[in-house]
Amino acid sequence: MRAVDLIQKKRDGQALNKDEIEWLIKGYVNGSIPDYQMSAFAMAVYFKGMTAEETSHLTMAMVVSGKTVDLTSISGVKVDKHSTGGVGDKVTLILVPLIASFGVPVAKMSGRGLGHTGGTLDKLEAIKGYQIERSQEEFVQQVQDLGLAVIGQSDQLVKADKLLYALRDVTATVDAIPLIASSIMSKKIAAGADCILLDVTVGDGAFMKTLKEAEELSQTMVSLGKEVGRHTVAVITDMSQPLGQAIGNRLEVLEALQIMQGKGRHDITDFICRLAQLLLKLAGQKRSLAEIKKHLTDGQALQKFEKMVVYQGGDLKDLYRPSKAKFVTKIFADEDGYIKELPALAFGLFAMRLGAGRAVKTDFLDYETGIVFYKKVGDPIQKGDLLAEIYANEKLSENLLTEFKKNVKIDKEEMKVTEILKIIT
Ligand code: URA
Repeated sequence: MRAVDLIQKKRDGQALNKDEIEWLIKGYVNGSIPDYQMSAFAMAVYFKGMTAEETSHLTMAMVVSGKTVDLTSISGVKVDKHSTGGVGDKVTLILVPLIASFGVPVAKMSGRGLGHTGGTLDKLEAIKGYQIERSQEEFVQQVQDLGLAVIGQSDQLVKADKLLYALRDVTATVDAIPLIASSIMSKKIAAGADCILLDVTVGDGAFMKTLKEAEELSQTMVSLGKEVGRHTVAVITDMSQPLGQAIGNRLEVLEALQIMQGKGRHDITDFICRLAQLLLKLAGQKRSLAEIKKHLTDGQALQKFEKMVVYQGGDLKDLYRPSKAKFVTKIFADEDGYIKELPALAFGLFAMRLGAGRAVKTDFLDYETGIVFYKKVGDPIQKGDLLAEIYANEKLSENLLTEFKKNVKIDKEEMKVTEILKIIT
């Protein structure tokens, strides 16, 4: 086989067979196919797409490009979740201990944030001492002992994705549905859980900008999961505004703690309960929302979370410490009405500039900085009300403050907010 022939075949809109796709992925991982040919192939996929069969072959070729995690020694139905990325997305910090509080083991490998999107690992590392690197044996042992673990993804898992994702990132080929679906599902399949909840975000702060695209991605991923016998469900969720109140690593940990103490905003609390209900159902437990809310707010989820933090080396005292940011600037509303827009992308990028996120992979993070919103889309607001607090380690310029305020849109009309837009099973 020659790579050039396979690139040409895809460029001309033909489907590749299993052997051809396997050969391509193997060759790319062992270095016999160079970046320039793989880039051309990715671009051909971007324009011509892939059939369901091709996407399935690609996903499985990626799964076997590295090690896979064997969770069979853990008793019970093991679950995992994945978000396609967002701003202020602290769901994993809350959902994982909540699910574990029902006796369902959660074995989760998470990633870091890049650009305007945050990553769970960065949030956990905002807790002094928390170790995200664990061997496979330690990971399995922890889930056996505690019922939950959130660690960093091993370098040995899905080697093809590491190479391919870095290549896509610099060749404008990230946002192709077959490539996103195979990238995410190869990692989920390799991570070994029996049930997978996919949170597919849609809106200006997400990869998927329209509901139609999000549906296509969801359907593709759910089919890939089911093909290999994993119970998979996708939830399409709104990412037109940041999730919850906080953006920024330490601030998001604090918000997660508040939610697990029953002191969080009702909308994000209810949203997480609904996700938990779906995931528990996948794992064979039928629970009412009232029951789930009780576990979330009466300390049962919090107890699991604290146990996980301690097990992974985290300092419990540091966990509850407020942000050490030097400057906390309060932003007040200039007019009456309802919050109409808090664009997730703009505020994600704003928080990134404060140091809460990375523009490039090698950037250092400032765990203490970020934004806390006291009003969200749909909330009534009056002139002089506290809208948000900005946590920074440098004094904010007038220009930055003006930019912040310009992004908040207030309107006279009341508006409705829906967090879960669709469920794909
Ligand atoms: N997240 C992934 O893991 N892969 C993609 O391709 C896009 C988002």
